[in-house]
Amino acid sequence: MANHKTRLAAFCSGTGSNFQSLYHAINERGLPAEFTLCLSNRSECGAIIFARQHGIPTVHLSEKQHDTHKAFAAAMLGSLEEHAVDYILLAGYLRKVPEAVVNAYSFRILNIHPALLPDFGGPGMYGINVHKAVLEAGRNESGATVHYVDSEYDKGPVLLQRKVPVEAGDTPESLAARVLKCEHRLYPDALEKLLIAKEL
Ligand code: GRF
Repeated sequence: MANHKTRLAAFCSGTGSNFQSLYHAINERGLPAEFTLCLSNRSECGAIIFARQHGIPTVHLSEKQHDTHKAFAAAMLGSLEEHAVDYILLAGYLRKVPEAVVNAYSFRILNIHPALLPDFGGPGMYGINVHKAVLEAGRNESGATVHYVDSEYDKGPVLLQRKVPVEAGDTPESLAARVLKCEHRLYPDALEKLLIAKEL
């Protein structure tokens, strides 16, 4: 792999446990990448606090701060440019990425989803809703998916996917915890795959 470090932005709305696992994996595995931005629609959340504690620049960017969607998208592109971001990693970002940003970062935005896409994806399929739907459908396995982001929710091409068993007596919460544990390995593995492919 080349000496140049791939510059990453994490987009988060909550705890940011996936962002944190990515950050630690980059250090532990010596991956040629670094987070140069953590962007959130919330002024305070676990991800923003973690970024501050680790010297990663943070940006609070919400559509409400702007008069038009166009101005919001332009501000997002401005932050990405300012921090010279190569790839965007969505990690629990509960907003749609503006079309202008998706177009500017075509095949350079990844998302992690807590189910085996294309099943259990799309609008409304986030957080605990996903795991409730899997249990209600009587599935005996679920999993996690890392995929490229395009203009439709949870529809972009899959980069990496891993299965997790559904166990007898599972509640949405117990299944969510098992899937999240899987996500914490899967997202770093997907990033590593991406970085290797990028150098080929
Ligand atoms: C994860 O389950 C992820 O799959 C989904 O949102 C959740 C984020 O959790 N997109 P965290 O903020 O990374 O802890």
